[in-house]
Amino acid sequence: FHVEWDLVQAEKGGYDSFMLKEMHEQPQAVRDTMGARIDEENKRVILPELKMSDAELATYDRIYIVACGTSMHAGLVGKDVIEKWTRVPVEVAVASEFRYRDPIYTDKTLMIVISQSGETADTLAALREAKKSNVKVLAITNVVGSSVAREADEVIFTWAGPEVAVASTKAYTSQVVALYLFSLYLAQVKGTMAAAEVAEVVEHLSEIPGKIASMLNNDDQIRRFAEGTKEVSSLFFIGRSLDYAVSLEGSLKLKEISYIHSEAYPAGELKHGTLALIEDNVPVVALATQPDIYEKTVSNIVEVKARGAHVLGFATEGNHDLAKSVDEVIYMPATLPMLTPILTVIPLQLLAYYASVARGLDVDKPRNLAKSVTVE
Ligand code: G6P
Repeated sequence: FHVEWDLVQAEKGGYDSFMLKEMHEQPQAVRDTMGARIDEENKRVILPELKMSDAELATYDRIYIVACGTSMHAGLVGKDVIEKWTRVPVEVAVASEFRYRDPIYTDKTLMIVISQSGETADTLAALREAKKSNVKVLAITNVVGSSVAREADEVIFTWAGPEVAVASTKAYTSQVVALYLFSLYLAQVKGTMAAAEVAEVVEHLSEIPGKIASMLNNDDQIRRFAEGTKEVSSLFFIGRSLDYAVSLEGSLKLKEISYIHSEAYPAGELKHGTLALIEDNVPVVALATQPDIYEKTVSNIVEVKARGAHVLGFATEGNHDLAKSVDEVIYMPATLPMLTPILTVIPLQLLAYYASVARGLDVDKPRNLAKSVTVE
């Protein structure tokens, strides 16, 4: 028994938990997932693993992204990115819902399933249903040889390495990277982005690992905020567009491992009900990284502040405005607005982690949850 403990400790590589270790592996996981898929010389994306021709890929005019949990949240980021860069409409669906629906397929429908493990029962069942209808399925998965990898027509692997903690971190960021690469590739094939635009994104992508590392290494502020949540019963996340997609993931992480009740809300929708829950000292994490809707988000932040909320804002470096409307601000390294999710999620993971530690909980093995859900 003693020996086993030592082995587990050794696997954690000096970290207190697998989750902490895996969070710190993100710069590498992201770098590995980009890897040979970026043509450095020409600043474009190559996906040699795709079996279908570019001509076939270009014909798809509608995409379903189907997944569960954190993988589904990566899909929500993917939706906004694909739609923006390729103008192909994308619907994201929870696998346990999608598989029992009667989805509308045409011969130009592509299905993307996302699964870290490649074994989630509902995701696998949705994939099988689609294949029965002769729909082309592309999988984004982390496990070579998994059922999803074997049964999908096409596979883009994330190279995050084994993920042990139930709360998914490096798998999520790697999935988001895989979705960026796929979106750029699709944009190249469909001609919806100029070569210079693609090159600009590719350059910014290559800086992402360093920026993730700097956020991981400067975690004092988020740790203090997390420690302050020890007694709170509820915490809200708000944001618009991509900030909302990331908020959902931040809220899920917090629920999973700290057991604090939490909701993520599109900032503009608060006033239709949830605002009633905001009172003195309720913590609100407000993401305001998207320039096109920044002012609108700030006006929602002012609304929760006026009801007594304690607001932690997220803004991009160089923003001197948000500090006036919130209690404290976390500044994100500057990048393209479409790439912010992969950075904003880092402090949200750390928030969940430190809140869990502050409550003395088992970070890696939260109650009632499993790493891979192979039952329906
Ligand atoms: C479980 C895990 C989550 C994960 C979800 C989907 O609920 O606890 O972390 O996001 O399954 O898993 P998959 O392996 O399909 O990505």
